[in-house]
Amino acid sequence: MSVRGASATARLPFWHLHLRLSGWRAIPTAIFTLGAGAIHLTVMPQHFQEYRPFGVFFLLAGLAQVSLAAALLFSTGRRMAILGAAGNLAIVALWVVSRTVGLPLGDDPWHPETVGVADAAVTILELMAAWNLIRLARRPWGPGPARTRVRIRSALALVPGLLLTIVGVEAGTEGMPASVNMSAPIAPGQASIPMDSLKAAPGSEPLRSFTLVAEPAQIGGQTAWTFNGTVPGPELRVMQGDRLRVTLVNDLPASTTIHWHGVRVSNAEDGVAGVTQDAVPPGATYSYEFVARDGGTFWYHSHQDTANQLTRGLFGALVVQARQGPTADRDYALIFHEFPGHPIIGPGLQGLAGYVGQAFSGQRVAVNGTTDDLRLLALPGDRVRLRLIGALEGEQFGPLMMVAEPLELVPIGTCYQIVAIDGGDLNAPQCIGPERLRLGIGQRYDLSFEMPASGAVRILDPRGHESVTVGSGPAPAVPDLKGLPLFDPLGYGRPAPVPVLGHGIDVTYQVVLGEEGGIRNFQPELIHTINGKAAPMGTTYLVREGEVVRLRIVNETGEFHTMHLHGHVLTVLDRDGGAPRGSPLHLDSLLVSPHERWDVAFVADNPGLWMFHCHVLLHAALGMSAMVSYDGVTTPFDLGARSGNQPE
Ligand code: C2O
Ligand code: CU
Repeated sequence: MSVRGASATARLPFWHLHLRLSGWRAIPTAIFTLGAGAIHLTVMPQHFQEYRPFGVFFLLAGLAQVSLAAALLFSTGRRMAILGAAGNLAIVALWVVSRTVGLPLGDDPWHPETVGVADAAVTILELMAAWNLIRLARRPWGPGPARTRVRIRSALALVPGLLLTIVGVEAGTEGMPASVNMSAPIAPGQASIPMDSLKAAPGSEPLRSFTLVAEPAQIGGQTAWTFNGTVPGPELRVMQGDRLRVTLVNDLPASTTIHWHGVRVSNAEDGVAGVTQDAVPPGATYSYEFVARDGGTFWYHSHQDTANQLTRGLFGALVVQARQGPTADRDYALIFHEFPGHPIIGPGLQGLAGYVGQAFSGQRVAVNGTTDDLRLLALPGDRVRLRLIGALEGEQFGPLMMVAEPLELVPIGTCYQIVAIDGGDLNAPQCIGPERLRLGIGQRYDLSFEMPASGAVRILDPRGHESVTVGSGPAPAVPDLKGLPLFDPLGYGRPAPVPVLGHGIDVTYQVVLGEEGGIRNFQPELIHTINGKAAPMGTTYLVREGEVVRLRIVNETGEFHTMHLHGHVLTVLDRDGGAPRGSPLHLDSLLVSPHERWDVAFVADNPGLWMFHCHVLLHAALGMSAMVSYDGVTTPFDLGARSGNQPE
């Protein structure tokens, strides 16, 4: 039955009147504004934590949009339409400013925010609502029931409206918590061990003092972030047993820290923002002190906003010369790194854009700051030690950019021994070569060789990126590099007893490396997980002092991951069902190939809260980070957006 005209409406309840007259046309617009309001209210509590006036704004905007949606069902007058369109467009305009030049308010004034899923969904909903309202203002709906065409169009508009609302609300509830505390749980009755009490005891070791000034510098036409004006920063070279005192002076526009990669420091000196210290703010100074217990090749780098700061240039070599063992006539540390100037903006849409840009422009691989052939002095007959340090994330091309295929290096011109990996000496290393050595980010390989009577020794990269030439003799002939065998550390050197294993394993933990598309930090991301969880709410491995802990690492991805544990040494037990056939391997950065499984063990002999993460900076930034936490250890520091600490 069709009802027409005023006489009919008079017999109906008042709400029916309006639904009848304008309802069908009003519903899509109401849904769009209701959706925008719902998303605003979802993210409102997080914004309250961040900065109260922002929270108030989101509350008011959300309430206004919800009321507009309700009002639209009862009245569709011209004035309401103009008001609603103007309100929605004003919010859109504010959003555009905040995403381009930044708002002059809040924790981080005049700093554009990143575009996320929730705010993008809100903006689309607001634009659709505003469009409808403008049309309504220009041509108010007349009385009478809507025609079928209008009904169908309105019904169809519900689909994007509801979808955007669901996606936006979902994204809004998955934001990064404003601050997280990584303290280990404390059992009732157990005394807590404050992390800042875990410092090196005073001692009379020879003291070596260094000052590292973190400062911007112009390098190759780009503004790099440097230690003491160079990339890499100065090489720190000390003797095993020395006490290092390093003063960090922060002259950067951002806060920073220094982490001593591979060095078994006391926990309070580990340099991880939000776990072992607050990031050092611009203009401030911080001092680290530790004893270099182990000889070997290490490096140091920022552990605040690491993916960004390391790529900008904040790293350097740390060489601890062993008290015992073979000496060399020439001893060089070589850091292979990305030429500074491709800073990563972060994960999410914009970071992804940065990576795609980088993938198309190609990586610029540098050795000790130069992209030219690096020449090193050595005379015929000299014993040369080269300490290769991987500071390069790996090749990232187009859609395969997550794979992080490690750098490969081929020494040619002589046979060479690999005397240490990650600072851990190998047992009875034989002279080999040429073979391809894979160097994942964070790993170190120490080569030792004797200079031939005539001729130079070179280190080449099969992809043709870089080369290093040692000595001044004629260059050796270059073999087909890609066809050379791959060096396998598990089949090199000779077996020797491993004291760790004698004791037996106390506890075994699974470390499943995975990835899944999802929303983290308001951003759509290929989230990288450990046991299905992503940082900062990632997996915690609880250990007790004195335990021997086994980690079963299962790589369920098609990517390479360099798994790095702070403050400890990992002894390799097994890879894909095979134990090392040669020298025992004591590493801190495991290069795990696609779909490999590794068993490693460590002795829990260094109490604290220790990061255990993939060293591929992008993977860590996408969540592939866990913690090894000693029972009862607490930290006074927080990480997360509000805290200013962001260790990845
Ligand atoms: Cu090279 Cu978590 O560090
Ligand atoms: Cu990884």
